Amino acid sequence: MCPEKLAAFVCFFFIISIIELSSAVTCPPDFGGRCICGKASYNGKPRFLVNCTNTQFNDAAMLEKLPIQTEVVIFTGNNISSMPWNVFGKMNDYPDLEVIDMTNNNIKEIKGKTYHHVRNVKTLILNHNQLNITGDKTHPRIFSNFVNLESLHLTNAFSESVDSKEYLVALEQIFFGSNLTKLAKVHLEQNEIWSIKNPNIFCSLPSLMDIQLGDNNISEINFNVGCIQNLRFIDLRNNKIHSLSNNTLSKFEELPDQGLGVKLDLMGNPFICDCQIADLLNWLRTTKVDVLEKESYMCYDGFPVSNINLQLYNVHQIQCAYAPKQEYQGTTVLLGILLFLMSSLILIIGYMNFTNVRARTVALWEKVIHRGQYTHILSKPEEQEVHV
Ligand SMILES: *[C@@H]1O[C@H](CO)[C@@H](O)[C@H](O)[C@H]1NC(C)=O
Ligand SMILES: *[C@@H]1O[C@H](CO)[C@@H](O)[C@H](O)[C@H]1NC(C)=O
Ligand SMILES: *[C@@H]1O[C@H](CO)[C@@H](O)[C@H](O)[C@H]1NC(C)=O
Ligand SMILES: *[C@@H]1O[C@H](CO)[C@@H](O)[C@H](O)[C@H]1NC(C)=O
Ligand SMILES: *[C@@H]1O[C@H](CO)[C@@H](O)[C@H](O)[C@H]1NC(C)=O
Ligand SMILES: *[C@@H]1O[C@H](CO)[C@@H](O)[C@H](O)[C@H]1NC(C)=O
Repeated sequence: MCPEKLAAFVCFFFIISIIELSSAVTCPPDFGGRCICGKASYNGKPRFLVNCTNTQFNDAAMLEKLPIQTEVVIFTGNNISSMPWNVFGKMNDYPDLEVIDMTNNNIKEIKGKTYHHVRNVKTLILNHNQLNITGDKTHPRIFSNFVNLESLHLTNAFSESVDSKEYLVALEQIFFGSNLTKLAKVHLEQNEIWSIKNPNIFCSLPSLMDIQLGDNNISEINFNVGCIQNLRFIDLRNNKIHSLSNNTLSKFEELPDQGLGVKLDLMGNPFICDCQIADLLNWLRTTKVDVLEKESYMCYDGFPVSNINLQLYNVHQIQCAYAPKQEYQGTTVLLGILLFLMSSLILIIGYMNFTNVRARTVALWEKVIHRGQYTHILSKPEEQEVHV
């Protein structure tokens, strides 16, 4: 072999190996070398992953050049306030794309025409964003191209400056407008939800099984349960439920088999064991719903106060308190402070007046004795004081 041929051979080999290497571990040039593309394990399975984690992109333009064989897109830790139209480009279909994870991108707005070519996506994750979907930002068909979506993750997804009651109304419009016939799981944890004013929010999701509402501030189950015919699980852990009334609990009786096999998690709620909790105690003992770990639910407060810190199951005596103790304590302290201030004031004024009165009375007394009119003055000293 002559040296020239050898050099050419080495060069050829070198180029080939570079091409192989790049197709295995580097992404298209638009990704700026910041992401990892290629086979990797995701949820225990080997998948073709595009992984842009903490890549600090300020736009999502590179996603238009997503490799066609992509199965999982992880695009997190970027700063994309508005998701553009056609985020995955106009041309390509992504037959294998199953998971889109867009956690923690500071996303405020998703345009109605953002998601196309997503017909095989099963999981969409939009956790930890700043979404505003109210007002003219409501696009009811925003998820309409996710015809096979099974799992929608919206944990801590909404801007705290928008009232949860407002965006939940918009979310119902989206559920209705997007025809999510396969959606089985909805995650809405950590969204500072206080109450749901649109009871039919979940009624247009025919395949819905799991509703995750943990770590919110919900005090009442005020959404329609009976319309969720495939219901399997409602998570209401760590909310603000004090008690539940027959009115609420009877919703579970509307389910097939009166809720047999349905799981409900109420762990970590601040139950108040006074007369208001009677319905719930009664229901817990008789329902067919599988209330998870119900033996360990605790009374956060109660009346009589001996109920405090008892397990719900060990409460045998409940009475009606006039107001929840927490607020009562607050007003008592305030009242105490006010009373103390007032009585101090009265004492000070009284003392000042007393010394004053005494000085004047003594002076007067001396005068009176002088004039010999003491009886009248002694019986009405204060009147005398006024006249002087
Ligand atoms: C994605 O990349 C980040 C860091 O670049 C890594 O920590 C993470 O494990 C990757 N995710 C997967 C599913 O491979
Ligand atoms: C995110 O982008 C917005 C503009 O779109 C900018 O005002 C903001 O400072 C950026 N935040 C960070 C952390 O880079
Ligand atoms: C949300 O969007 C609506 C409609 O554009 C707007 O009126 C409202 O001010 C926005 N709220 C926040 C907190 O950005
Ligand atoms: C909703 O989706 C189902 C099946 O995915 C389809 O049969 C039906 O026509 C769709 N309805 C609307 C209003 O798009
Ligand atoms: C909701 O509850 C959480 C935790 O219990 C609390 O930290 C938060 O301040 C509450 N939200 C509001 C808006 O008060
Ligand atoms: C709630 O239902 C139970 C059982 O059906 C009943 O005994 C109880 O009186 C009801 N409570 C109220 C407040 O109506």
